[in-house]
Amino acid sequence: PTALAGRHFLKELDFTAEEFLGLVTLAAELKAAKKSGTETRHLQGRNIALIFEKTSTRTRCAFEVAAADQGASTTYLDPSGSQIGHKESVRDTARVLGRMYDGIEYRGDSQQKVEELAAYAGVPVYNGLTDDWHPTQMLADVLTMTEHSLKPVKEIAFAYLGDARFNMGNSYLITGALLGMDIRIVAPKSYWPAQDVVERARQLAVDSGARITLTESLDDGVLGADFVVTDVWVSMGEPKSVWDERIAALKPYAVTMDVLRATGNPDVKFMHCLPAFHDLGTKVGQEIYDAHGLDSLEVTDEVFESAHSVVFDEAENRLHTIKAVLVATLA
Ligand code: CP
Ligand code: NVA
Repeated sequence: PTALAGRHFLKELDFTAEEFLGLVTLAAELKAAKKSGTETRHLQGRNIALIFEKTSTRTRCAFEVAAADQGASTTYLDPSGSQIGHKESVRDTARVLGRMYDGIEYRGDSQQKVEELAAYAGVPVYNGLTDDWHPTQMLADVLTMTEHSLKPVKEIAFAYLGDARFNMGNSYLITGALLGMDIRIVAPKSYWPAQDVVERARQLAVDSGARITLTESLDDGVLGADFVVTDVWVSMGEPKSVWDERIAALKPYAVTMDVLRATGNPDVKFMHCLPAFHDLGTKVGQEIYDAHGLDSLEVTDEVFESAHSVVFDEAENRLHTIKAVLVATLA
């Protein structure tokens, strides 16, 4: 068994920097093994339940393919396909699934639900995204950053532009603080992470040496960044009524070629957890455009399709990093 055998994966704060980076290293090893055709199956005969109360492409597929590559099987419970939350409490669902499965992934709204699942399941529980955190995404993003930067993790600078009060903004701030990185949150003040998250990050920075910047100034925030990162401005589950205010506030922080130039770093890379609204190829993207114009999307098509963009490496790394979590906790 590994050092993380039997552990849950609920939020970045549950891990030490060494544990977190150990998972990133394991992911890199598993990626290399898969690419060279030498992958060993550590999870033969294991069964993993995948509960999705919200939709997903990357997270679901990463869990399914990672499990299959390692010899485990999965059951996908779609947003309407289980009794959880409707006819059966989280607590009871946890105790039922814990009798049948070796691990449980959960995506939904409240962090409290995934924590409750973990408290009662008796098997490892994995957070596949809540309103507060997206921890498996952070493993993929750190792996992607280490692949595209020649610097040690602690020397990497990244700027997150956009709504930082939600899962992605919170997770970036805490992950950067935990790992000792140079992390900049660049957004209107009212879109910065909650005060308790910022305080937690500052506490972590005392030990890790992280440089934490929260700023409304785009130019100051992105200067010298190795990576410019963003997320959709309207997250899953948010009503259309937030669009007007959200877009008006965040428009100045859209990732354009000018923003990449403002880093002063010709090798700057662009990252996005995806799905992204960068063109009119999506229903929601088209609706936002129709209502607010093309400069109402979080990133321009030009940046998204440019040589700076590493978003598909980042998406692929969801597979290798989620596999690392499964192997580390279940093998
Ligand atoms: N980045 C991410 O979590 O994508 P999905 O919503 O497709 O899983
Ligand atoms: N903030 C986005 C992330 C999607 C992976 C959402 O919650 O919809």
